[in-house]
Amino acid sequence: MRLSVNVDHIATIREVRGEIEPDPVIAAGICELAGAEGIVCHLREDRRHINDRDVKLLREVVKTKFDLEMAATEEMIRIASEVLPDLVTLVPENRMELTTEGGLDLRKNKSYLQNVVKELHSKDILVSLFIDPEPDNIDKSIEIGADIIEIHTGKYANAVGEKEQINELSKIGTVARMAAELGLVVTAGHGLNYYNIIPFLNISEIQEVSIGHSIISRAVFTGLHKAVEDMVKILNSRL
Ligand code: PXP
Repeated sequence: MRLSVNVDHIATIREVRGEIEPDPVIAAGICELAGAEGIVCHLREDRRHINDRDVKLLREVVKTKFDLEMAATEEMIRIASEVLPDLVTLVPENRMELTTEGGLDLRKNKSYLQNVVKELHSKDILVSLFIDPEPDNIDKSIEIGADIIEIHTGKYANAVGEKEQINELSKIGTVARMAAELGLVVTAGHGLNYYNIIPFLNISEIQEVSIGHSIISRAVFTGLHKAVEDMVKILNSRL
């Protein structure tokens, strides 16, 4: 299972003081040296953490895979078309939320998203759709033209008690299998940490996870290199 590290919260610490450090661009290099196979950042409309300068520089320095997470707005599509990340992950965005709260509504936005995917494909940018683990979302992802789906694991991460956790995990497993059978690349993310990642290793269809907050939090105590290395070790322990 590959690891993509989301460096948003390096920028969050910077923005708390309006300073120039810590720099998410330097973080990206350390993550790659420690074994990450991709770097993700979410450019939000309000620029609360990652800003336009970060996105441009990350594009230049990331040597593995640069994934620009963004809402499917005209402004973001223009930026992606200029910056040319390897991959765009489309997410819903709500100004008041602390973090992305759920997957895309594919039913409501199908034809709009079809056009967005076409536009990004015309620039040779792969497109991932961030979706809730609902079977209906798989056919729709294919109709929209996605290359990849990222299954939203937030509900699993927040599940209270073993029963709810197993229930959420089984939904994720079902959707992952359906998507893989239909030829989509399957990834997952949101709220994953060093503990709740373990049951995930059994879902063989999930090729990659995107993790931010837990790695950056651990890095405060262990250093970023070790925090990434520790997660890579767990992911590599998959049989
Ligand atoms: N994937 C997506 C689509 C996200 O929006 C986020 C949060 O920015 C993540 C993964 C990473 O989540 P976390 O920071 O909880 O690991």
